[in-house]
Amino acid sequence: MEFLRCRPAHLLFPYGITRSEIRNMISGPGARPLPSMAGVYDNLLGHPNYSGDQDLQKRLTVLLPGLEEATQANRAFVLRSAKAVARMGVTQFLDLGSGLATDQSIPDVVSRVEPHARVVCVDNDPLVVAHGRAMLAGEHVAIIDADIRMVNDVLDHAELARIGFQADRPTAVIAAAVAHFLRDDDEPADLLREYLDAFPSGYLIFTHACGDDVPADHLEMAVAAYRERIGPIYPRTEAEITAFLNGLNVLEPGLVEASHWRPDDSPLEIVGAKFMAAVAGFGNQDSLTRHQEAVRR
Ligand SMILES: C[S@@+](CC[C@H](N)C(=O)[O-])C[C@H]1O[C@@H](n2cnc3c(N)ncnc32)[C@H](O)[C@@H]1O
Repeated sequence: MEFLRCRPAHLLFPYGITRSEIRNMISGPGARPLPSMAGVYDNLLGHPNYSGDQDLQKRLTVLLPGLEEATQANRAFVLRSAKAVARMGVTQFLDLGSGLATDQSIPDVVSRVEPHARVVCVDNDPLVVAHGRAMLAGEHVAIIDADIRMVNDVLDHAELARIGFQADRPTAVIAAAVAHFLRDDDEPADLLREYLDAFPSGYLIFTHACGDDVPADHLEMAVAAYRERIGPIYPRTEAEITAFLNGLNVLEPGLVEASHWRPDDSPLEIVGAKFMAAVAGFGNQDSLTRHQEAVRR
């Protein structure tokens, strides 16, 4: 219980997680070493939390100037695009690799547009799951502890039925800042297709880390530092990221740096590390249009 002893209490419970949940995470079956992908990302968003890693963050931001702004642009895109898709009449959201729900969450944003929207958040980090269950889970929101590579474990999970998430409804599949944790061998583009194929139509909300504008040696050192402290990460080139969207109906303005996707204000000028972002329609677009018209009436 060294971890519990050495951290001040306000850092242990910043998100309303109970002491016994924390104990289980450290010494129970789901225990795993800190820090985590979600914690580092959350730190880069400017929310200090104990599963971040200040040392790694410093190394990353020296090697990748602009990383914090790029991360904030990614998160702002995810929330902005989910709101836009909810306004287009979609009422089901499947958030793959949902991360820590600090500040605004997908359920917050979409329920303001459609109070009966259903949201399923999927993550394989026990801390993220415990935090999500404490903060977000409810009648219309499910938090699933699963590896997104196990598509059937996600889609057949009893929690989907509990909240009334239905396979025959247009659905938004969110895969934001998560595909770059999957190896090429995991065939991440095919994996995403399996999720899209589970629904008649909808939208894919997608972002992916891109290293094209970073000097190769800096990118290599940043990836090595991340791997050493957290685990493997695979930033891809813009051409490789574009291939994830093959065959989909990519909405305007296409695949762009995240802050340039339909910005509310002037977009940030992100230099260096960046997240490429897009929203793409999938499935039977006629049925999607009919559904949207019905929702508008
Ligand atoms: C960088 S965070 C992104 C959070 C959020 N999607 C966003 O873009 O703001 C990535 C999340 O994906 C989760 N993750 C990574 N690989 C995963 C996997 N194979 N299955 C489930 N979750 C995964 C991590 O635990 C982390 O919470």
